[in-house]
Amino acid sequence: MNMRLDKLLSECGICTRSESKVYLKKGFVTVNGQKASKGDIKVDTDKDEILFKGERVMYSQFEYYMLNKPAGVVSATEDKNDKTVIDLIPKPHAKDIFPVGRLDKDTEGLLLITNDGELAHNLLSPKKHVDKTYFVRTQGGEVTEKDGEAFKNGVDIGEKDMTLPAELKIITSGEVSESELTIREGKFHQVKRMFKAVGKEVIYLKRLSMGALVLDESLELGQCRKLTEEEINNLKG
Ligand code: URA
Repeated sequence: MNMRLDKLLSECGICTRSESKVYLKKGFVTVNGQKASKGDIKVDTDKDEILFKGERVMYSQFEYYMLNKPAGVVSATEDKNDKTVIDLIPKPHAKDIFPVGRLDKDTEGLLLITNDGELAHNLLSPKKHVDKTYFVRTQGGEVTEKDGEAFKNGVDIGEKDMTLPAELKIITSGEVSESELTIREGKFHQVKRMFKAVGKEVIYLKRLSMGALVLDESLELGQCRKLTEEEINNLKG
């Protein structure tokens, strides 16, 4: 693909287009072994060897971030009142990134953010039944194997159909219980409504995985990182 050198540097997340002026002047950028001082030159991202401080600049059309979403931010690209998950992705980033699906404002954990519409569609399509696993803390009584059976058979959450078979793994059970629930659909407030259907209230919810993508527990709440090539390939199947 042909594009301006300054656009390439910004799209690769190296610097903003205005910062690139400084770096180009300082001689940090070479194209096919020659120092480049102007941002407006056209480069071929497939053929030209572009180095920034000696490191190869690899252009990729798409960006993929894993965010450990904290409570209190909304899964949207913009919002009048609240901070959004996009505000947590360090700049520069592609302008058209968006969260793949929604976590409630009070839900924490794994959120994929990308501008790859095809991957997002494949992960979200109701026909694909992509697994999503949540850590759930509930109150209102012990979570039991009977609840697990109910989730396996499908529960009534007030939709036209019962929920699809889901798997419950009980971690601790008591007045406050902890468990992991894997669901294969993504209805509004689905996990909260499923537990409500068996008489419990979700008091904490965190997504642990989505398809092949597993939350990197070394990410602090509010932190993100780019996906590795392996993670991207695994997600694409
Ligand atoms: N289910 C919920 O109830 N909330 C979420 O944020 C995700 C799944």
